[in-house]
Amino acid sequence: MKRNVFLMVALLMVVVVPFMLMPACQQPKPQQVKAVTIPDGEMDPAEWGKAYPTEYELWKKTGEATPAGKSRYKKGFDADNITYDKLSEFPFMALLFNGWGFGVEYNEPRGHLYMLKDQIEIDPSRVGAGGVCLTCKTPYAPKLEAEHGIDYYSKPWNEVRLMIPEKHQELGVACVDCHDNKDMSLKISRGFTLVKALEAIGVDPNKLTHQEMRSVVCGQCHVTYNIKKDENKKSVGIYFPWQGSSWGNIPVENIIKQIREDKSVGEWTQKVTGFKMPFMRHPEFELFSMNSVHWKAGAACADCHMSYTKVGAVKASNHRVTSPLKEDLKACMQCHTESVEWLREQVFAIQDRTVSLMLRAGYATATVAKLLEQTHAAQAAGKNIDPEFYEKAKDFYMEAFFRSLYVGAENSVGFHNPTEAARILGDAVGFAGKAEALLRQALTQAGVEVPMVVDLELDKYLNNRGKKQLMAQAGVEVEDPYGITDRILMIKKM
Ligand code: HEC
Ligand code: HEC
Ligand code: HEC
Ligand code: HEC
Repeated sequence: MKRNVFLMVALLMVVVVPFMLMPACQQPKPQQVKAVTIPDGEMDPAEWGKAYPTEYELWKKTGEATPAGKSRYKKGFDADNITYDKLSEFPFMALLFNGWGFGVEYNEPRGHLYMLKDQIEIDPSRVGAGGVCLTCKTPYAPKLEAEHGIDYYSKPWNEVRLMIPEKHQELGVACVDCHDNKDMSLKISRGFTLVKALEAIGVDPNKLTHQEMRSVVCGQCHVTYNIKKDENKKSVGIYFPWQGSSWGNIPVENIIKQIREDKSVGEWTQKVTGFKMPFMRHPEFELFSMNSVHWKAGAACADCHMSYTKVGAVKASNHRVTSPLKEDLKACMQCHTESVEWLREQVFAIQDRTVSLMLRAGYATATVAKLLEQTHAAQAAGKNIDPEFYEKAKDFYMEAFFRSLYVGAENSVGFHNPTEAARILGDAVGFAGKAEALLRQALTQAGVEVPMVVDLELDKYLNNRGKKQLMAQAGVEVEDPYGITDRILMIKKM
């Protein structure tokens, strides 16, 4: 019965909400699209802003600090002016990512205005792949890719960045990334990545509904991707690993299968194990669209991150794209009747539970990584490690690693799809546990003694990252109001 009511409500919301936003219901309507011509190929948001000053001003605000103390995990860039450092928050990541840029510096995101600036400031090892790293950072990416082809991917990052007109060498996401200049309709600007990915899952990009477009424009960047390399380790392409999946159903299993099978995407070598690996980044679109409650309710990214806001007498989509928590969950109120406090507690509870599982999965995976290190040392010392046990353990380790990476890289800390995030992490814990058991047995058989508790040597990985020790440097303790430290102590005892 209760379920039916929910379904009715969901249906009503999908059917009625769009009508409620129509002028007939006397809701203030977003400002009309104006008859100002924006020339084709105009990149400068200030020029678009002459026609749409409200959206332009809101967009510029993504460069301002957001209010402190509202979000529990996504402090990003708040009034404290500290860049939150993911490796300090989750030390197991420092061990697992050691070997390339992500193990040196890996920060929580901040506002859209910073995307290219942050890339300029970050440790240079993070843009080692070349010009390809500009793909979701500059509105010039499609133009550069079309004009320079292979050079766009492979030439050094800064060399390609300097091909951008001087005044826009620090410009992040711009109006032209999401809008058609003729009529302001939503548009995919990155044909070379997203259109190809949609085609790979059998979706005709021209047939997407308006509501779907309100998520898809974000899916140009808030997705996982892989960089293709040639035999000389030069970047030669980029793609979203959606092969074998379909709309509303891009499971992590398919992504892992694709990137493990495609040998051209071994992007880095993990120091502790010596394994050459692909990587995963920010899979917001994939996790959210994977049968989540809100996807099923017809919600789009823009509903929660760009809800209507009043600026003076005008109503506009909030182009100051940010965490809904930092706007006191106003966006949720278009559908929910619960109080802000209730909703906030729900978000925090979902995130706390996700983090708890993330820690379990992360530490279990890190333990296997250290056992693999020990196994490799034993092999080098001439010990006889059973190859069958070893291969199985390696396979399970990879499966655990990618699952733990996937949820850790997704930026909502589980909120976008709580049950799916928990399912994935549960599987990661399972795979890691099995891999650990196999390695312990193989090592014991080879006459190598394994201690009950494996020393992860986390300090070594955390403190030897060159000059980048952001939070420690700033004298900031990782905040811990929700018991992460206790949780870690408990997990270490397991
Ligand atoms: C051109 C690529 C691109 C597009 C398109 C894009 N984003 Fe982003 N987004 C980014 C990058 C890159 C960052 C991180 C910036 C940084 O940390 O410097 C980011 C950060 C964010 C943040 C964190 C902001 C904060 O205050 O910390 C949110 C929320 C977000 N994006 C949501 C969205 C939504 C919703 C859409 C679609 C309406 C969207 N993004 C479209 C690239 C993009
Ligand atoms: C039902 C509402 C809802 C929908 C729909 C939604 N999000 Fe979120 N999103 C959230 C909440 C809540 C958070 C957690 C924010 C926090 O912890 O501060 C979040 C976090 C994020 C973050 C990290 C924000 C930060 O400050 O670092 C990004 C990026 C993001 N979402 C992008 C997206 C994208 C892209 C989509 C669509 C594919 C999407 N979201 C769909 C509610 C939503
Ligand atoms: C990350 C994607 C993104 C970027 C960048 C972006 N917009 Fe939008 N914009 C949207 C979305 C989503 C909507 C809601 C559209 C809808 O539902 O029809 C929107 C709506 C609008 C509208 C219609 C009125 C309203 O507020 O809903 C105008 C006008 C507009 N944007 C102007 C701009 C301008 C000017 C810029 C650059 C300064 C810009 N946009 C940058 C995604 C974006
Ligand atoms: C487009 C409408 C819509 C928006 C916007 C929306 N929700 Fe929901 N939400 C729903 C529907 C429909 C359900 C499923 C019915 C239910 O459980 O109430 C739901 C369920 C939930 C649940 C229960 C989740 C679960 O897995 O059982 C939580 C918590 C929640 N929403 C929080 C939020 C928060 C926080 C925001 C804003 C960041 C938000 N919602 C925005 C429609 C929406």
